[in-house]
Amino acid sequence: MTTTKGLEGVVAAQSSICSIIDGVLCYGGINIDELAENATFEEVVYLLWHGVLPKRDQLSALQKQLGESAAVPQEVIDSIRTYPRDVHPMAALRTAVSSLALYDKEAQDMSLEANYRKSIRLIAQTPVLVAAFARIRKGLEPVAPNPQFSVAQNFLYMLNGKEPTGTAIKAFDTALILHADHEFNASTFAGRVTVATLTDIYSGIVSAIGALKGPLHGGANEQVAAMLDEIGTIDNVEPYIRKALDNKQKIMGFGHRVYKDGDPRAKWLRQMSKELTQQVGREELYQMSIKIEDLVTKEKGLKPNVDFYSASVYVSLGLERDLFTPIFAISRMSGWTAHIMEQYENNRLIRPRAEYIGPVNQHYVPIDQR
Ligand code: COA
Repeated sequence: MTTTKGLEGVVAAQSSICSIIDGVLCYGGINIDELAENATFEEVVYLLWHGVLPKRDQLSALQKQLGESAAVPQEVIDSIRTYPRDVHPMAALRTAVSSLALYDKEAQDMSLEANYRKSIRLIAQTPVLVAAFARIRKGLEPVAPNPQFSVAQNFLYMLNGKEPTGTAIKAFDTALILHADHEFNASTFAGRVTVATLTDIYSGIVSAIGALKGPLHGGANEQVAAMLDEIGTIDNVEPYIRKALDNKQKIMGFGHRVYKDGDPRAKWLRQMSKELTQQVGREELYQMSIKIEDLVTKEKGLKPNVDFYSASVYVSLGLERDLFTPIFAISRMSGWTAHIMEQYENNRLIRPRAEYIGPVNQHYVPIDQR
């Protein structure tokens, strides 16, 4: 047996959803650059689920289904009102998604059709849950979803209680596309491992949310915003980063297990960060980010990943810092559900081995002789 720490380089299954080949990221064989430029998030959801882009009537049908499926059971909204207001929104989301299963009559129906319908509900209802908790913790009433709105438009509308600008919708939609899937990332793998026991889709999604929450995965974007706040000024970038590197601290938003020459999503977010920070008069966030990138690349040879520039993009959109990772979950729900359905279609229990390095030939010692 050979042990591969962190499963680096291990190919754990075949998949036809998303590829990263020679640093190029594609969904269903289409380069992410083309999708970021031309597609909508709903088209990407369809692409991840079906492997092809939707025709006009297929897209309209999906948009209609998402609109009709967005209403969250009242019991779930009522239970969110009982959550402590100071918990992290990812913890709230993990619990809220788990409680959706309690009120879904199809929760245990393992047919392909039922799992597809549940996937639609998960995509449509996750933004509702995130926005509801964000408002309830401030003492505000949740805003009901508008079935006519896209996922991006609806989330910003439900969060702020007013219609977002076209610029905000476009930027948010692009961010959703860029975060939608990433083959066997930690949260997707966690979801696949869970459902490979043939448990229900909600259990798989709850595992995935738990994995995304960690700072080495989706939690990094929030940490980047905290770092930008802490650095505060352009002049403080160099001393701050040098000290962190000297202390062997990880700089959040840099490095990647798969990409060694840079994350193809980062350039889109860098450009969005440049434009949006300028529009809202927060250029210093972009300037600081560029300087951090130059320094970390020069000193460590590390490039920014998807989380680095998404931080200043979300700050510019007026989003609260601890909502950044739940927003990642809103988007990644598309990839998670695609992967879970793919796992069910061709399932085998995922059960690796461990290389035992503990003591051997030990004996039971009665408690009073230990
Ligand atoms: N800042 C500083 N050093 C970093 C670093 C970072 N962000 N990311 C990796 N390194 C260094 C490690 O310290 C290690 O150095 P060493 O060999 O001298 O000990 C080396 O690069 C390899 O890092 P490792 O953590 O083993 O790589 P990994 O493939 O296991 O981890 C990440 C990949 C993404 C978890 C890692 O790069 C990281 O922690 N990044 C910060 C968190 C982040 O942005 N996560 C979002 C990912 S999309």
